[in-house]
Amino acid sequence: MYKNIETTLSHIAKFAPFEDVAGASHFPIYNTGTFDLKKQNGDKIYDYTRSDNPTREMLENLFTEVENGAGCVCTHTGIASVALLFETVLKANSHIVVEADCYGGTFRLLKVFKEKYNITVHFANFLEFDKLEEILKTNPIDLVLCESPTNPGLKIIDLEEVATLAHKYNSLFAVDNSLATFISQRPLDLGADFSLFSTTKYISGHGAVVAGAIVAKTKELSQQIHYYANAHGRSQNPMDVYLISLGIPTLKVRMKEHQESSLKIAQFLEKQDYIKKVTHPALKSHPQYELANKQMKYIPGVFCADFTTQELAEKFIENTKFFGEKCSFGSPDSRVEIPAKISHASFSKEELAAIGISDSTVRFSIGLENVEDLIEDIEQSVK
Ligand SMILES: Cc1ncc(COP(=O)(O)O)c(C=O)c1O
Repeated sequence: MYKNIETTLSHIAKFAPFEDVAGASHFPIYNTGTFDLKKQNGDKIYDYTRSDNPTREMLENLFTEVENGAGCVCTHTGIASVALLFETVLKANSHIVVEADCYGGTFRLLKVFKEKYNITVHFANFLEFDKLEEILKTNPIDLVLCESPTNPGLKIIDLEEVATLAHKYNSLFAVDNSLATFISQRPLDLGADFSLFSTTKYISGHGAVVAGAIVAKTKELSQQIHYYANAHGRSQNPMDVYLISLGIPTLKVRMKEHQESSLKIAQFLEKQDYIKKVTHPALKSHPQYELANKQMKYIPGVFCADFTTQELAEKFIENTKFFGEKCSFGSPDSRVEIPAKISHASFSKEELAAIGISDSTVRFSIGLENVEDLIEDIEQSVK
């Protein structure tokens, strides 16, 4: 790793498991299912792309380095990295504690694990530390999982404190780092055992492909994720690795721009009479503003705004020219969605209300357009 992360991210090919004969700036895509054992005599032998592939290994080596872990598996989607975490750590009848404010796909997957493998899922508010400790004290918890910032509520969880608590009760701790990304925060350095993320979002940065990754802190945990990734066929295909790698060198400039533009729009919205509340961790009004600034280098360009009525929220979405009504975040094009309708449709109204999300909450992901154009568009759309 170079001293500064953006230098490392600009030289991905250096993370390839062997040097390309012509020093290609982009390491070749090994688009093959199999490798001939007779043709190889190095330390590392490739046999089948589900298990190992040089192109994927390059990205896994890079993520291991920038997350400061011991090993990584790149997965075919972001939710596959969550599934791989569960497949690695949980067994039938396990207990897991999850921050109640979590991505809708994770919530749905937890329901599947609960129904099929009798997993007990304890949902908790990780800002209520005593209650979280009570759950850990009174149940045989195998895994503690949270996002930070959370999606969609944008709470900031003190990862160092949760790591200490999880380990006090012999539980593993995993952080979904999709929103912050490793350029902003490194959960393993704060004590987590796993950092996982959807590379679909800011990491690839162009919204052109779905993928994910999970990085383990120790060699032992890394061996386990590799074993289960091979067993369950979770690994990412080399073509998608290539597409993801194209966006990585620009991560820093994009994150800075997403932060600046989204903050300007959030500050603008805070002053409008059709808005009840804006939740953006870079706003001074955010309850964990200080922790957000301490824990993250760049604050992602995703925030929520509560409109005064559901009708107004819908009118805005209907009339806007630049904001697509789309799920996901971290793309160059700005987008909006009502979480209750799209990304968090697997939650009931009551479950969403418990994490502060209503039918008039709009989640924004600010892209890379000119910020004045976006503000002008918002103004015309609510007229
Ligand atoms: C926080 C978080 N984790 C995981 C995922 C799943 O990623 P993917 O859509 O790439 O499967 C998402 C998707 O929106 C997400 O927001």
